[in-house]
Parts: sequence; C-alpha cells; structure tokens
Amino acid sequence: MKDTILIVDDELNIRNGLVQAVEMEGYEGIPAADGEEAWKIINSREIDMVITDLRMPGLDGSSLLKKIYSSYPTLPVVVLTGHGTIEDAVTAMQNGAIDFLTKPVNLNHLFVLIKKSLSSRDMIRKNEELQKELDRLKGNNTYSQMVGKSQAVQRLLDTIQQIAPSKASVLITGESGVGKEVVANAIVSYSDRAKKPFIKVHCAALNENLLESELFGHVKGAYTGAISETRGRFEQADGGTIFLDEIGEINQSTQIKLLRVLQEHEFEKVGGEKTVKVDVRVIAATNKDLEKEMKEGRFREDLYYRLNVVRLEVPPLRDRKDDIPLLSMHFLNMYSKENNKNIEGFTNSARSALYNYEWPGNIRELSNCIESAVVMCRTNLIDLNDLPINISRSPRNDAITIPLGSTMEEAEKLIITSTLAWCGGNKTKTADVLNLGRKTVQRKLEEYGK
Ligand SMILES: Nc1ncnc2c1ncn2[C@@H]1O[C@H](COP(=O)(O)OP(=O)(O)OP(=O)(O)O)[C@@H](O)[C@H]1O
Ligand SMILES: [Mg+2]
Repeated sequence: MKDTILIVDDELNIRNGLVQAVEMEGYEGIPAADGEEAWKIINSREIDMVITDLRMPGLDGSSLLKKIYSSYPTLPVVVLTGHGTIEDAVTAMQNGAIDFLTKPVNLNHLFVLIKKSLSSRDMIRKNEELQKELDRLKGNNTYSQMVGKSQAVQRLLDTIQQIAPSKASVLITGESGVGKEVVANAIVSYSDRAKKPFIKVHCAALNENLLESELFGHVKGAYTGAISETRGRFEQADGGTIFLDEIGEINQSTQIKLLRVLQEHEFEKVGGEKTVKVDVRVIAATNKDLEKEMKEGRFREDLYYRLNVVRLEVPPLRDRKDDIPLLSMHFLNMYSKENNKNIEGFTNSARSALYNYEWPGNIRELSNCIESAVVMCRTNLIDLNDLPINISRSPRNDAITIPLGSTMEEAEKLIITSTLAWCGGNKTKTADVLNLGRKTVQRKLEEYGK
C-alpha cells in the first residue's frame, strides 16, 4: 500500500503542485485547503505524514500542528515556511514538527525529508509494537520472568511447566549468561513447592571444606572454629528446593555425600553421627561439559545420572536471535526506570546492530550493554552511538565509515560517492542532499573518474 501524504496549503498552485510531485514519487497525495479540512481528513482516514503551510486563514498551521501532536503524537509533520521567517519554523519544531521546508520548495529536499520522516515514523511504530508484544508476553507469563518468543524458549517453557510438578532432579546446562538461574526460578515458581523454601548455593564460591559444611551443616567442634552446631542448606531447604549452581566445581567427597542425599534423602552433618532426613528437590546448573568431566574422572558417573534425570539445555542467544528485540526492550524498560529516564525504544540502526552482534556473553552481556546505553542516551531513543563500540561496529548500509587517518579529500570522495549510491545514481539529488551545486558534484565525480 502507498504511503499517504496530506498536503495542507491555502494556495491552490502550491497545493496541487506538491500533490503532483509526491504522486510522481510513488506516494498518495491528498490536498487540503486549510487546517480545518486537514483535521477532518486526519480524523477520518489513515495518514502517514503531513506537510503543512503555516499561515492560512481559519485554523492555521501551528494550531493544526498542536492538535496533531496532542492526538497523533507519532504522525510526522513537516511545515512549509513561505514568508522567510525562520522563527516560525523554530516555533513549529518546538511544537512537534519534525522538520521544515522553505518555499519555493526544492523537490529533492522534499523527497529526502519524506523518506526520513516515514522511516522515523516506522521506527516509532516498531518500538510501540515491540512494547505491546512484550507486555502481552509478560501478561501471559506471570509465573516466569523469562522473556522470549523464539521456538527454543517456548519449548523450554513447555518443558519447564511439564516437569515442574514432579520431584525429579533437573540439570540445567548452557553457556555463561544464558539464563540458567532464570530457568531454575521458573521451575520453582511453576511447582507445588513454590511457597516452600528455595535455597541457592553457588558451589564455586566456597572452598571445598566450607562447601561441605555449608550444604550439610556441622556439629559443634567438628573443626577449629566450629563453635556451635549449624543447619546446612539442605536442612534449610527441607520441603522445598535447592539450587546448586556450578555443580561442576564440587569435589569428590562432597559428590559422594550429594549422591547419598539424592538416593536416600539423608546425610550426616560434618563431624556428626546422627542421620538427618530431608525432602528436597535438587536443581543443578553448570556451564561445564559434565560428560567430559565424567569421562575424565572428575565427576562421578552415578551422581551425573542422578542429577541428569531431566536435562534442560538453554541455548546461546546467538541461536535464538528472535528474542533479542524483546529482551532489549525488556532491559530498556528496566534500566530506564532505574535511571529515571524516559527512553521509548531504539533507532533502526541500533536495533540492527543489537540483532547482528554475536553476544558471546549471552543475555547477561545484552543486559549490561543496554544498561550502559541507557546511561549514555540523551534522547528518547537509544541510537547506535549509545551502544558500546564493539557492538556498534557491525556493518550497516545507511552509514559509512571514514577511517581515522583519512585526508579531507579522501573523506569528501567517500561522502560524495556514497551519497550518489544512496540516491540511486541521481546526481541532481546527490547535489541537493549534500547542499552542493550540481556542477560541483559533476566536476568532483569526473575527478574521481565516475
Ligand atoms: N529469558 C530471560 N528473560 C529475561 N531476563 C533474562 C532471561 N534470561 C536471562 N536473563 C537475565 O540475564 C542475566 C543472566 O542470567 P542468569 O544469571 O540466569 O544466567 P546463567 O546462565 O546462570 O549465567 P552463569 O553461567 O554466568 O551463572 C540475569 O540478569 C537474568 O535476569
Ligand atoms: Mg548462574
């Protein structure tokens, strides 16, 4: 469908001339002779962009602009200033116009402006759609904090709901930062143990002896410094769930004790003789290759099979790129709020850079990236320049890179030839966009041998 451009001007010649011009460029042009007529049209049908004169009898351009801005804030409006007063244009921009054109209208300027306005409108719409999709997803998914619509995530969520009610042990694997802990949280929240204790232990954070007493507790005098009897994490988790993060890091003697808890639901405290019985569901996670650890003798085979009753593999972010836009919006909302900023979305170039990046640090890296972009951002949209340099450097087609160390002449050549390509080889348009004379552009191109 053609984009529709409403042309508002009280002078018949200008109105008709502009309608014809935009129709020749492939848009649908709709004339309106004053602000009132324009306002009626805007309320009665879909309009993609408005070009309006400022001084008109009846409802003038600036009043029309204000009405549009308050009812249709995303409808782009460009104003025409015929009376050489730049102040009018400045006021119009303050009132929400996205740009202005001076009369007589330079058609190539007009076309560039239309292209820019429509793409900025598309951008705003895309952000709004993304926000709606995210809200919908979260509404359907109140039990889990997992954002994602990719098949991989949907499958994961299905499996989680299926296995949540059972007491079976779960092993969650995946690269660092993919969301293993988020998956563990989701399992618990869908299970009937949701309101029971949920204890998390980071196995790599403690040295071997401390880990054992952390998990199982110790009796008074079990070792120097054990001044009183303690309850371990398993006892605290009784009736509920324990999450053993980085399970690949635990030593042999703790592995044996853990195996016994999984098989017999019992253990003894460090230094103790009394057997303690518990009812605990075990969820373990690792980014190590446990099969390899097992084959190389560092991880007990029997323990591996006990843990691996249900296996959930969380795929890396680069294998579920469909989730990147939603996750980006999710983190944007979060950090925008945290920093008291009002950022609504991403420019197209920022969005495509986020999409194209490989994310070796997965969702955690994406979260950090959006946090820093929110801090850097000075407008209502995150732009490419707000992103960390390693991410913003991915290739794009609406921008050029001028390497540092270039001379002015080299830079000029790059700008002129790339703009020529961007304008589809049209030299007159190129000259207009660059604000150069056509002859100058012609001469430069000849110098470059084009
Ligand atoms: N599907 C998701 N939706 C929203 N946020 C997510 C999602 N997955 C992960 N996150 C967020 O990404 C970050 C990393 O997730 P998490 O800590 O669960 O990863 P991990 O796999 O346990 O990483 P590591 O191996 O480094 O421990 C967290 O801040 C988490 O809240
Ligand atoms: Mg983790």
